[in-house]
Amino acid sequence: MIPARYGASRFPGKLMQDLGGKPVIVRTYEAAKATGLFDAVYVVTDSDVIFKEIEWHGGQAIMSQKEHDCGTDRIAEAVAEMDVDIVVNVQGDEPFTSKEGLAQVLSVFDAPDADRIDLASLMTEIQDWREISDPNAVKVVVDKENYALYFSRSPIPYPRDKNTAVQYFKHKGIYAFRKQALLDFYNLPMTILEATEKIECIRFLEYGKRIKMAISNTQGIEIDTPEDLVRANKVLKEEKRLPINNKYRNFPMVPKVVYGKGCFEQLASILGPQRKEKAPFIYLVDDVFQNDQELIQRIPLRFNDKLIFISSFEEPKTEQVDVLVKSIKTEFSYRPSGIIGIGGGSILDLAKAVAIMLTNKGQASEYQGWDLVKNKAVYHVGIPTISGTGAEVSRTTVLTGPEKKLGINSDFTPFDQVVLDPELTTGVPKDQWFFTGMDCFIHCVESLNGTFLNEFSKSYGEKAYDLCKEIFLNPELDDETAREKLMMASWHGGMSIAYSQVGVAHAMSYGLSYVLGVKHGIGNCIVFDHLIDYYPFDVALFKEMKQAHGIELPQGICKDLTESQMDTMVKIALSLVPLWENALGPDWELKINADKLKALYAKI
Ligand SMILES: [Fe+2]
Repeated sequence: MIPARYGASRFPGKLMQDLGGKPVIVRTYEAAKATGLFDAVYVVTDSDVIFKEIEWHGGQAIMSQKEHDCGTDRIAEAVAEMDVDIVVNVQGDEPFTSKEGLAQVLSVFDAPDADRIDLASLMTEIQDWREISDPNAVKVVVDKENYALYFSRSPIPYPRDKNTAVQYFKHKGIYAFRKQALLDFYNLPMTILEATEKIECIRFLEYGKRIKMAISNTQGIEIDTPEDLVRANKVLKEEKRLPINNKYRNFPMVPKVVYGKGCFEQLASILGPQRKEKAPFIYLVDDVFQNDQELIQRIPLRFNDKLIFISSFEEPKTEQVDVLVKSIKTEFSYRPSGIIGIGGGSILDLAKAVAIMLTNKGQASEYQGWDLVKNKAVYHVGIPTISGTGAEVSRTTVLTGPEKKLGINSDFTPFDQVVLDPELTTGVPKDQWFFTGMDCFIHCVESLNGTFLNEFSKSYGEKAYDLCKEIFLNPELDDETAREKLMMASWHGGMSIAYSQVGVAHAMSYGLSYVLGVKHGIGNCIVFDHLIDYYPFDVALFKEMKQAHGIELPQGICKDLTESQMDTMVKIALSLVPLWENALGPDWELKINADKLKALYAKI
């Protein structure tokens, strides 16, 4: 509920001021709606100008029946007859309301103490003494479990000794109420402390309600003055300029990696400090190792640790992740100490996805896309046994879902620990070695020829590209050295994309994989073979490599597709906007379309 009073003492009519072509209140409404956190969003107002404006923009608005002194009363009246559990109040003058803050205030109702909570609110850390002593900033103090003890315009606690290390918190006016708490507020008369400080939420404390405080440090912009509005308009302009795939992204890297022949032996000592009492480590291992007693014996299983063999015959599906997570949750009453993936790209991706889904609600398919994951994943470790995909280092886990093939791309996706032991890649069948190695080569080509490229990506991409040429075109290279080099090429290839993107071959290969189940590595090769118009020099080089290793690619795999299969394939490929933007530039839609793509697929 967004309470919206037309008159505001400091900046009258501020909610109807223009912010980038729409009134402030409409921006706030759209921002709240866009978080996707609510079943319904309403503006509750005393003004028919605001009411009409919201309806005009396709939103839902409610006219207040009575006059109200405060926003809380206004929304209490509006929800009195509604069937609702939790009501969140969003300030009408906060057009940049972030999903993060709202999600945090809501998340307290998922915690074990939820039934003790009447309402939840947000606070933010403040350091500056001017702000701490500013009566316009409401301070809050909390108990050990973050329940509010008191709110005040005075600095609380009062620092008698000025050097005391105490963290001050400023209250932010976002609340999530249980319906009853909200109605109680409306029906109970104002109390003396509330009236003295002019802080609404003190009334709850005075009547003995429990307010749980969540911490959020994202700074929004409140529109309190005309200067705020100027600043907000500026911010909006800057936001608009950002390309779809923010080029200057601040991305995480794998924090710990061990490299060397035989370093797999160190696994037990690496995992030791991460073990949480009764919580097991779960190993997801490629089932090609099911009969490899030598490797299985070396896996340091302790206590209730569990080993699950996984077939990588098919690429990982969101459904498969959900089933695995459910079985782990059913079998163990403790959240696992960690998930360890041992295998190729599919197993590593599965391990990342399972680690994420153990701490995030719902189904894996809900998180396919960019930055949709809310909670930090369970500790997860990647141990590649085949090199090339870059899955050991990437910020994504590619999954086939009911509607799309797309990664869960988030800051929580990368492994916490990677073990790079070239010895583990011994004995990979030649075709598979080639296809997976070419995945790395194609990553480099697509990154190095992409519009997102910068020196950071280039430095990794060039190294991996050179290593690939050496591995696949130098007949003198012995197997052991080639394995070591490919392991590092895969790492660098993956790092190169971390700051850039893949391109045409990957977009098209995703389509092939979604419709025909073609595996990623071979799919890339099949497509890349036909991309001479896009990557002329490197496709020629690829053909040379293919010949050098006697690799035959299947031909004509798209010739018997039905029209609807072809449409799906094209749709999946075209939906990968960042890949096309990287490959063809910001005006990529002028350069590729469904018909052109169909013609390309038809040749394959
Ligand atoms: Fe790839």
